[in-house]
Amino acid sequence: MILVTGGAGFIGSNFVLDWLGASNEAILNLDKLTYSGNLANLASLNGNPHHIFVQGDITDGSLIEGLLIKHQPRAVIHFAAESHVDRSIHGPEDFIQTNIVGTFRLLEAVRAYWSKLPQADQENFRFLHVSTDEIYGSLSPDAPAFTERNPHEPNSPYSASKAASDHLVRAYHHTYGLPTLTTNCSNNYGPFHFPEKLIPLMIVNALAGKPLPIYGDGQQIRDWLYVKDHCRAICRVLEAGRIGETYNIGGWNEKQNIEIVNTLCTLLDELQPRADGRSYTEQITYVKDRPGHDRRYAIDATKLYTELGWKPTETFATGIRKTVQWYLDNPQWTSDVQSGAYRDWLNKQYA
Ligand code: NAD
Ligand code: DAU
Repeated sequence: MILVTGGAGFIGSNFVLDWLGASNEAILNLDKLTYSGNLANLASLNGNPHHIFVQGDITDGSLIEGLLIKHQPRAVIHFAAESHVDRSIHGPEDFIQTNIVGTFRLLEAVRAYWSKLPQADQENFRFLHVSTDEIYGSLSPDAPAFTERNPHEPNSPYSASKAASDHLVRAYHHTYGLPTLTTNCSNNYGPFHFPEKLIPLMIVNALAGKPLPIYGDGQQIRDWLYVKDHCRAICRVLEAGRIGETYNIGGWNEKQNIEIVNTLCTLLDELQPRADGRSYTEQITYVKDRPGHDRRYAIDATKLYTELGWKPTETFATGIRKTVQWYLDNPQWTSDVQSGAYRDWLNKQYA
């Protein structure tokens, strides 16, 4: 079996569903169920003996040690993190705790377990750390896309905490020989995306007749990848990645934020037109910029393509249409995650 951390979040739950849809190898899913962790994402696995869920915190080293000894996984895929840049600006503490201290505790527990495995199992073991392109910092308009050789230049408390976790993983490989792999992926979108992030927030607000808040001039650029392509890339790196290496994952799909929001409005105008017949673009509102807002991210995923043969299967046009349709088909999921805590966040951020 494999141990997945953060498997009730956006990317983690897509990964768990896709893995168990294609394999009989069991998953031990360790997730704290913070505001962004949601067991409803995994409801289709109820009764599936290959999915073992444990609610717990990655900062709890003894819990992890016990789970490793009991379940003897052959690999750990580490998704668990605080993941939202704006929240990290309002309150960095949780990011330091989970992303840095939590990754450290997880590495320590895994090292203790791994060092006692028989040699062949040690060699086959993998610790795959799921990280982000944001650790590379911000690109000027004409700069080449990030490669794995770019320096770490994180600009937000979130990206700084992820960069720290990347360094810890690297150190555990170089110092202790732990067989690690690190992936640095660009912006994901798709089903189960928590509606605090750009794409789901815009869909949910549009349908509710609320403003569509664009930070600053809306010309910041992100490189968007459909979440299931990210999950496929992780499987490929787990299977064949070279130990100790990092692999960039990206969609070759750079878009300005305002372009993304206009695309969402056009799709919604087609799929669920406003009752008054006007366009959702009328709800677009420019708001105060994010402090320290990174201007542009772009990923060069050539290494992953040339070494491991991975490339995305979805175009942005197909992926974004599926995503909008998913939100239209799952209004209950959206209303369930819009709890009191979610409303408090919106009031704080967009007041
Ligand atoms: P998410 O916020 O949707 O999910 C995070 C999950 O981790 C949640 O289920 C949460 O309950 C769990 N978690 C948080 N703190 C925990 C703790 N202390 N112990 C155990 N579980 C805990 O995030 P996501 O967007 O799915 O991101 C998953 C990973 O992928 C993160 O490491 C993130 O940095 C990375 N990543 C995300 C993107 C993206 O576009 N969303 C892109 C590249 C990399
Ligand atoms: O690049 C990978 C990263 O992508 C991941 O590591 C992070 O976990 C993930 O949250 C995401 O970070 P971003 O900050 O790029 O994503 P977010 O959806 O928060 O914002 C995308 C862009 O949209 C960014 O330029 C800010 C802008 N934005 C966002 C929100 C929520 C707005 O203009 N208005 C908004 O209301």
